[in-house]
Amino acid sequence: MAQRVRKAVLPVAGLGTRFLPATKAMAKEMLTVVDRPLIQYAVEECLAAGIEEFVFVTGRNKSAIEDHFDHAYELEMTLAQRGNKQAELKQTEQATIKPGNAIFTRQQKPLGLGHAVWCARHWIGREPFAVLLPDELMGDSGLLTQMIDVCERSDGSVVGLTKVPRDKVSAYGVIDPSGPLGDDGVVPVQSMVEKPPVDEAPSDLIIIGRYVLTNDVLDLIDQLGPGAGGEIQLTDALRQQAASGPFHGVVTRTTRFDTGNPFGWLTAVIDYALARPELGERLDAWMRERLARGETT
Ligand code: G1P
Repeated sequence: MAQRVRKAVLPVAGLGTRFLPATKAMAKEMLTVVDRPLIQYAVEECLAAGIEEFVFVTGRNKSAIEDHFDHAYELEMTLAQRGNKQAELKQTEQATIKPGNAIFTRQQKPLGLGHAVWCARHWIGREPFAVLLPDELMGDSGLLTQMIDVCERSDGSVVGLTKVPRDKVSAYGVIDPSGPLGDDGVVPVQSMVEKPPVDEAPSDLIIIGRYVLTNDVLDLIDQLGPGAGGEIQLTDALRQQAASGPFHGVVTRTTRFDTGNPFGWLTAVIDYALARPELGERLDAWMRERLARGETT
């Protein structure tokens, strides 16, 4: 019987160079989409999928993430004392993680995603775990929930996937399927390669920032040398798993935004704001008026 997936690793050590100077002194994971930071969406996605324990793999200038998920005692007291701030108080309290359920460890050197996951090894112990890259914002927890289910049933690792045009594959990990894609979006995987040249890519299905992994991947990473870009690549350890046991991909049916670049982040902000009852109509009207006017500021 496979073990339940209870823990998530959130690699948040990245420098956020595509958002400089905003990220000079601030973690890119604290960029807001409407009224909450990106990292909170990742945590909420986990909670909705039944994961309650978190390992944040952080770096310098990231302490705001730790503060964000703590109780803000003075703020909460002040809001509680003001009779008309109950909604704000609730929002603030909801952003906390239960005591003892989050650990923060530093990656220290930017040696790659595989290395970031490896830095979490002592806190993961000997059980399966999820990895979420918070730059990628998922519209709901449907993909993660399905991936956990596939992992628990197959006792093998699972990666989140999406299809991209062939000329875009070289920026990603690309899977080599060993069978047809099911109606449920699940596909068996026999191999994968990190950032291949277009003509060497085994498919047009790329790995997105969602993983549910069996624990043996940690020992495999331990043995890895540098891969693509000179980094310790998670994809290289996953390829070894896929060669020796069950391994699946799940093509997402949930909307996905890559907020790791300003354009993707802006589209996420607009999309999320349009879906908010208190903002959507006004924003829609303003955008129509603004686009009709044409000229730029
Ligand atoms: C990482 C992974 C890659 C994956 C991508 C998804 O790459 O190594 O396999 O496709 O995330 O965003 P990075 O974007 O860190 O270069």
